Amino acid sequence: MPRNKATRCLFVSLALALVLLVTSANAQTSALLWRSNWETPKPDPRSLNAVAQVFGAGCGSGCPNATLGVVQAAARTGTRGLKVVVFKGSPEAWRVQMVTPVFLLSRGMSYTYCLWARSSSDELYGNRALNLDMMQASAVTFATVQSLPIVVSRNWTQFCMGVTELPTSFPTLNFNASSTSYLWSLNLAGSGDRIEFNFDDMTLTGRPNNLDATIMSKTAARIEQHRKGNFTLQIKGDRGVALPARMVTSFSLTQIKQSFPFGSAIQPDAINLLDPEMRPWFLDTTASMFNSIVPNSMFQWPEFEYAKGVFEDKQEMLLGPMYLGFAEQNGMIMQRGQALEWLTTDFGFGAHWSKQDGCEAYKGYLQTRVIRDVTAFKGKFQMYTVWNQLLHDRDWGDQCQLFSRTVKEAFWWANAADPNATLCLNDFELIDGERWASMLQMVRQWQREGVPIHCIGIQAHLTPDLDPSVIQFRLDQLALTGLALHITELTLRTVSQPSPRFTGSEQQQADALVKYLSLFYSHPAVKGITLWGWWDTGHPVTNGGLVRTDQTMKPAALAIQQLWSNTWNTSITETNATIVLDADGGYAFRGFYGTYRYSVRLTTGQRLTGVVDFPMPRPLLAGVTPSQTVTLSFPTVTVRSPPRPPSPPSVA
Ligand SMILES: *[C@@H]1O[C@H](CO)[C@@H](O)[C@H](O)[C@H]1NC(C)=O
Ligand SMILES: *[C@@H]1O[C@H](CO)[C@@H](O)[C@H](O)[C@H]1NC(C)=O
Ligand SMILES: *[C@@H]1O[C@H](CO)[C@@H](O)[C@H](O)[C@H]1NC(C)=O
Ligand SMILES: *[C@@H]1O[C@H](CO)[C@@H](O)[C@H](O)[C@H]1NC(C)=O
Ligand SMILES: *[C@@H]1O[C@H](CO)[C@@H](O)[C@H](O)[C@H]1NC(C)=O
Ligand SMILES: *[C@@H]1O[C@H](CO)[C@@H](O)[C@H](O)[C@H]1NC(C)=O
Ligand SMILES: *[C@@H]1O[C@H](CO)[C@@H](O)[C@H](O)[C@H]1NC(C)=O
Repeated sequence: MPRNKATRCLFVSLALALVLLVTSANAQTSALLWRSNWETPKPDPRSLNAVAQVFGAGCGSGCPNATLGVVQAAARTGTRGLKVVVFKGSPEAWRVQMVTPVFLLSRGMSYTYCLWARSSSDELYGNRALNLDMMQASAVTFATVQSLPIVVSRNWTQFCMGVTELPTSFPTLNFNASSTSYLWSLNLAGSGDRIEFNFDDMTLTGRPNNLDATIMSKTAARIEQHRKGNFTLQIKGDRGVALPARMVTSFSLTQIKQSFPFGSAIQPDAINLLDPEMRPWFLDTTASMFNSIVPNSMFQWPEFEYAKGVFEDKQEMLLGPMYLGFAEQNGMIMQRGQALEWLTTDFGFGAHWSKQDGCEAYKGYLQTRVIRDVTAFKGKFQMYTVWNQLLHDRDWGDQCQLFSRTVKEAFWWANAADPNATLCLNDFELIDGERWASMLQMVRQWQREGVPIHCIGIQAHLTPDLDPSVIQFRLDQLALTGLALHITELTLRTVSQPSPRFTGSEQQQADALVKYLSLFYSHPAVKGITLWGWWDTGHPVTNGGLVRTDQTMKPAALAIQQLWSNTWNTSITETNATIVLDADGGYAFRGFYGTYRYSVRLTTGQRLTGVVDFPMPRPLLAGVTPSQTVTLSFPTVTVRSPPRPPSPPSVA
């Protein structure tokens, strides 16, 4: 769950910071707008150095002790780089800082700020996150617009932060060259004692965001293109002879299942605690609306193994007939283990037994947990969130220096335990905020290192009014990784604080959910959608469910049912007058990927019925949906040759 960002003030002298007007080249590709590599001793307008500064006055014994210098030893490229040595840290991290000039950003653009950094320690000491902040600058204050925790190691690493104007949600950005300006800032004094940092090659690139304001009018055509395949059902009679159309009196195909996972979070406890009379209704409703489920928190470590070595009861409950057994019995197609670990102090994670014996012990416990549980749930959970909210939560990570190795090792352990499992990161503000750029940056780095990461989980705690063109832009950016994108925790709210609530009308809820589902389903990189609960009882968003507490369906439930059972459903009936079969007895059609029931009546009085699968190809080749043919053999169907036309009278 997202936390609110604090608004902080910076004590940066505006006089020091140069104001740059960054207008776009009309190029469609990224243009380099600014660079600082510390090479030019005297800044020129095209290559301005960032400002590094130490503030000492007024903090008494809490003052940091740090030095700054542009030296060759700190260069990543060229001959100069910035060296910052923090001899003594300070709780007031801003007292040693590196800030970029102030930029005036333009409408209609998407910007990415990047810098390269390394440090004398593979991770930073102390508990304080090192945050890269983007700040909105007015004459007197600097308000944090977004903040990215970064982990600096001995190896040079590039860190990036992206920003696209999003007019309708928090944080509200208003790129308007005459009124607002932005800078990027890195506060270093909180890092701890005796740390050296090197910085080089800072860049700001920009390009037109090319937001497609008409995207919603294209979703139907995009769904037709990406979610359907060309299928042929071939029917053969005795001796493999093709069934001729003239033997068919009626023919039907009914899609009974989708290959596309559409799921909901269901907590096993919630089922167990239900009034036994309600249980069948709850389970039936779940199975009728969804083909995928994920436990809310029972698989999370503090709940799953609440005391060291005590996990059998939870393992049994999850694997049992009321949970994964129920899913299997109902032919559900994708269950996710949420989550192997989460570096938050909330929800029992901070006080968990695994963190009481020091860092080395923790790493060992984590390895045991990952290997043991991924092995136990092999084939039952097809997908895992390996780390939840890594871009936001890192409390224990800083203390134990987990970021340079352990967070990636967890992927290797899980991959070895179940090579078939789809392994994901899962985070928020990826499409409703600007974390997409940090995710893109981190995942690309991991991909270069060969980390077995297969998917990006997008939590999607949304408000109804988000601009679909901006969401589309961010999905496109995340899709550049080539990984599957999964919408993992979709909720709709109008109010976030103090606790999430939906205060709009039921029709507004239905319309917004249909809008978002259509947008997600139309995006070829999105491989599944999961709602974070469907019933108002126990829903994380007050009034956020599809079904009221009195078990009646809201318009949203009916609208979503209509989508899956009608709009995104291929069902066909033919009569003997309309059916066309090819020479191999093949009936060709285009339909949504999934499972179909067929029923064919023959002139002989026989009826052929059964179920056939036309699954979503994995991986789906870009833009090409290969056709699929399934052949069915009915040796009991005798295919007779058509009556021969009478022979023409022979002419003697
Ligand atoms: C800062 O730290 C350096 C290195 O330990 C030391 O030489 C110097 O005296 C310190 N300066 C102050 C003002 O404490
Ligand atoms: C930018 O802000 C100024 C002052 O508030 C306003 O007059 C102007 O119309 C704005 N421009 C755009 C493009 O929004
Ligand atoms: C699939 O069928 C559609 C028409 O139903 C056709 O336009 C398209 O070319 C076919 N694609 C392939 C790959 O055969
Ligand atoms: C730094 O790079 C070296 C050489 O590529 C590698 O062996 C090492 O694991 C890296 N360290 C970190 C913290 O990434
Ligand atoms: C992965 O899944 C495939 C198909 O379900 C199965 O044949 C194979 O044995 C599995 N591999 C492992 C290592 O579990
Ligand atoms: C698809 O439509 C058919 C015909 O209306 C219906 O019988 C079937 O249940 C629908 N499939 C799904 C998955 O809802
Ligand atoms: C279809 O079947 C009906 C009888 O069930 C028959 O009268 C009609 O001629 C048939 N049409 C074709 C095109 O075979």
